[in-house]
Amino acid sequence: MAHSPSLWGGRFKAPLSEAALRFSSSIDLDKALYQEDIRGSIAHVEMLAACRIITAEEARRIRKGLKEILAEIEAGTLSLSWEKEDIHMAIEQRLIQKVGAMGGKLHTGRSRNDQVALDERLYLRTAITELKKLVTQFQRVLLYKSEKYFGTIMPGYTHLQRAQPVYLSHHLLAYVSMLERDHERLADCYKRVNRLPLGAAAMAGTSFPIDRALVARKLGFDAVLENSIDAVSDRDHIIEVTAVCSGIMMHLSRMAEELVLWSSQEFDFARTDDAYTTGSSIMPQKKNPDMAELTRGKVGRVYGDLMNILTLMKGLPLAYNRDMQEDKHPMFDAVNTTRECLFIMTHVFVHTTFRKDRFSEELKNDFLTATEIADYLVKAGVPFRDAHSITGRIVGYCIEHSLPLSGLTLRDLHKFSPKFSEDLFHLLDPQNSIDHKRSAGSTAPNEVKKQIVHWTRVLRHKNRI
Ligand code: ARG
Repeated sequence: MAHSPSLWGGRFKAPLSEAALRFSSSIDLDKALYQEDIRGSIAHVEMLAACRIITAEEARRIRKGLKEILAEIEAGTLSLSWEKEDIHMAIEQRLIQKVGAMGGKLHTGRSRNDQVALDERLYLRTAITELKKLVTQFQRVLLYKSEKYFGTIMPGYTHLQRAQPVYLSHHLLAYVSMLERDHERLADCYKRVNRLPLGAAAMAGTSFPIDRALVARKLGFDAVLENSIDAVSDRDHIIEVTAVCSGIMMHLSRMAEELVLWSSQEFDFARTDDAYTTGSSIMPQKKNPDMAELTRGKVGRVYGDLMNILTLMKGLPLAYNRDMQEDKHPMFDAVNTTRECLFIMTHVFVHTTFRKDRFSEELKNDFLTATEIADYLVKAGVPFRDAHSITGRIVGYCIEHSLPLSGLTLRDLHKFSPKFSEDLFHLLDPQNSIDHKRSAGSTAPNEVKKQIVHWTRVLRHKNRI
């Protein structure tokens, strides 16, 4: 079946077959770039007029036409179906329909190769800014919870075995530190995204006296990409953003996993409001942490997106290759999925309360302060390795006699070492164990307070996005 002639039909005797067009059309996905495409075209056309490559009147008519097209797309009155090949063709064809053949001047000194590269960079700039805001919002919620629960002690874990008492705030602030690295990575890759590819044309540049720096200024780019071949063949920025998204998702899945565990009857450390949990269609007693589970589950998609785009670019010769059209799916999917997950997990945490009573129940009758005994012996002059072994035997003794550490008497302890005296018992209390921590970055009350002060300054700063 034949189609309306395409914008590149001059050299061809027959139009593209329906099968080939359907196969190669990307408009279903890249129509999401319509705003970026029109914004880039307006900057380009204004530059063409400023450089006297087209007249001011032509530029005015083209710009007006493009703005009308933007409104048509927004109103849903312009059809963006597969026959259009891609969003760039669809907009240009519509422009020519509206302003006549003169509309074809828009594409002077430009190619779809640098055009699509520009649109993607504009898209990623917005995406990075939004992701940064979402990360910050999440951190603020975690900071708020850290302040609210300051003083609540929980069992800290390693190997998912009870390790040492820590402040819940310290645990929540660990998430804030994790997310801060994501924020830094986003800010860092923004620098490389924010360089202008337009003006590279197909790959060799153009003989028109265009002013790329002017376009860069109009669109807020920090610099003009210095090599036209690289400008149209580079997709590193998509890879970087997708990699950063993968890191964010990995972090979210760790938080999600803890929330799933903590919501179980076995732990019962956290409760999330009904509005953010779901029931079972068969078991009436169930209240499931589905938002956390879905977040954990969606990580695979974003990792897949990263593999997808890395593999797509592997072995591609310079410069543009049509393969690269396939970059849209992983780019959009990684950004959208990460955005959604950050958003929902933030809300889940807002609507989650932590159970002080359950934490303290678990802190009682446990060996969480065993390290204090070892440290006590070390301070009394016993080498740490020996202290560790003595304490291990004490714990073994307690298990054998079904005793908590706090149930030991001085007599019991003297069987293991003569160095013990009354002042040890004080240290076996979780609060005292926390108070005794000295090192920077520890769970000691003052150290946790320092973190809260630090993050308050960073996250509540007026320029922080
Ligand atoms: N739809 C294409 C893409 O996204 C646009 C560039 C096409 N360029 C070309 N020479 N066929 O990559």
